[in-house]
Amino acid sequence: MIHIKSMKEIEVMKKAGAITAYAHKIARQMIRPGISTSELDLAIQQAIVQHGATPSFLDYRGYPASSCISLNDTIIHGIPSKNEILQEGDIVSIDIGACFDGYHGDAARTYGVGQIDPQHQKLIDVTRQSFFEGLAHVREGHRLGDVSQTIQRYVEQNQMSVVRMFTGHGIGKELHEDPAVPNYGTAGRGPKLEPNMVLAIEPMVNLGSHHVKVLDDEWTVKTTDGSLSAHYEHTVWISPDGPVLLTAGDEDE
Ligand code: MF3
Ligand code: CO
Repeated sequence: MIHIKSMKEIEVMKKAGAITAYAHKIARQMIRPGISTSELDLAIQQAIVQHGATPSFLDYRGYPASSCISLNDTIIHGIPSKNEILQEGDIVSIDIGACFDGYHGDAARTYGVGQIDPQHQKLIDVTRQSFFEGLAHVREGHRLGDVSQTIQRYVEQNQMSVVRMFTGHGIGKELHEDPAVPNYGTAGRGPKLEPNMVLAIEPMVNLGSHHVKVLDDEWTVKTTDGSLSAHYEHTVWISPDGPVLLTAGDEDE
């Protein structure tokens, strides 16, 4: 069942989203060769807790950290580690959730570390732009399949692939609510979009094939072909006037 939020719930979700965006800003400023992913995770946790929120991911189905940090061919759910050090030329995906007053915000970004290969920058740019192409259909009168197909088309037009094994999701009191928000699909299909739904829309894009494998830690998700992968996610409120990014930060203006 898709939960339609009250305006009171939306007001709380704006705060959860703003805290999520703040934690992203802190993490973004720390990215440099030589820093470990666990140092980033600690700073993210502190940024969330400082604002009276809790990290949504910590202990979610046993997940052991506050954020997911995924390097290069890791698509999602990379577990931060003091032994994993960012290096010049890497790409790093950071996924953060914050729960405030019982409601979640969820957002992800991919960044280059120092100078990166232009093809890898293009992967990051296409992933981000695919989100905004899809966002143009996130309004009353559209169906979810319109959003999904638009994301898939944009990515495939750029000779890249969308991950199918994982999707975006509704979000609210629960981190993952109905509906699933696939990054592939068919226009005109799927649930009708209505005012005051809130969706986490999150294209995951691979330079090679869309196939994935889960490592023995039962979290880390990598591309099977070793190609690089990028991720871009916002928590989106479908307002009566159109989509509003609840997790927008300074760089999204
Ligand atoms: N942001 C990711 C999502 O949207 C999730 C984190 S999974 C967790 O599904 F277990 F780490 F929380
Ligand atoms: Co999500």
